[in-house]
Amino acid sequence: MLRNNQVGQMAIDQALHTDSAALLMCSPDYFDVTYQINPWMDLRGWNDHRDAWRARAMVQWGTLKAIYERLGHTVHTIEPAHGQPDMVFMANCATVLNGKALMAHFRYPERQGEEPFYRHYYQSLKTSGLVKDMAFLPAGMVFEGCGDTLWDSSRNMMWVGYSQRTAQAAPAEVSKAFDIRAVALEMVEERFYHLDVALMPLSGGEVVYLPQAFNADGLETIHAHVPAHLRIEANEEDASLFAVNLVNLGGDIVLSGASDTLRQRLEQAGYRLHFVDTSAFQMGGGSVFCLTQRLDNTSRS
Ligand code: ARG
Repeated sequence: MLRNNQVGQMAIDQALHTDSAALLMCSPDYFDVTYQINPWMDLRGWNDHRDAWRARAMVQWGTLKAIYERLGHTVHTIEPAHGQPDMVFMANCATVLNGKALMAHFRYPERQGEEPFYRHYYQSLKTSGLVKDMAFLPAGMVFEGCGDTLWDSSRNMMWVGYSQRTAQAAPAEVSKAFDIRAVALEMVEERFYHLDVALMPLSGGEVVYLPQAFNADGLETIHAHVPAHLRIEANEEDASLFAVNLVNLGGDIVLSGASDTLRQRLEQAGYRLHFVDTSAFQMGGGSVFCLTQRLDNTSRS
């Protein structure tokens, strides 16, 4: 017979186990703003106070990692590579579902140098058993990992952004690679160059999105998949705060900022919000979600 405290401990273990995510991050040792491949990248502002920004990046990144760990998640880290200033944006390296990693191929030569480091690292994840398989899109097809593929666990499908960083043909390939439904959305606004800065599905079925990031077709697609009561529209203030670029882990949301309206809406829906300053990374065009890769998403058969 189990004693009371044993039952209690089992419940805690189970909660930790079911809720604990496997995440991947890359320390910003070499993070820098040395080129401009998205409109947020602020070369001048960065260079005016480069040392201060680089110091801030280290602190902000450490704080984000500590938040994940405090919430009970495991953070794996890849060794940062000298000369790869955007490697810190781990969301872009691949998309992992059911232990299969679909590897990125970057649109801009500035980031293509990151690819061999990711292949090497995922090979080691295979050896450790964290990832079972590595897959690639047809040669030459651009695809920027979780920047443009968002797993929607409640709908058991992938939202896929295309046109600016990911090829138009990629959504069909993503669907094939994972044997899941992929819903394609065209990214039509330069500021919203990746889907993860414009839309985010949440564990409760809500979808947060910036309407101004999509065309009429895109909005129709979103409305067709998300009933009105689950749509959470973000506004221009949220866009400037990178609010949509959040990481949702169960009932927790980690984010860099939000308008009062969005904040209230998320809290009313029952989420616990954890704010973290990502101002240094916003100078490179990314925030919380961009800095994080989730390794343990699974689909339902
Ligand atoms: N400077 C990087 C780029 O333009 C930022 C990437 C941000 N990542 C993201 N998932 N949105 O590629």
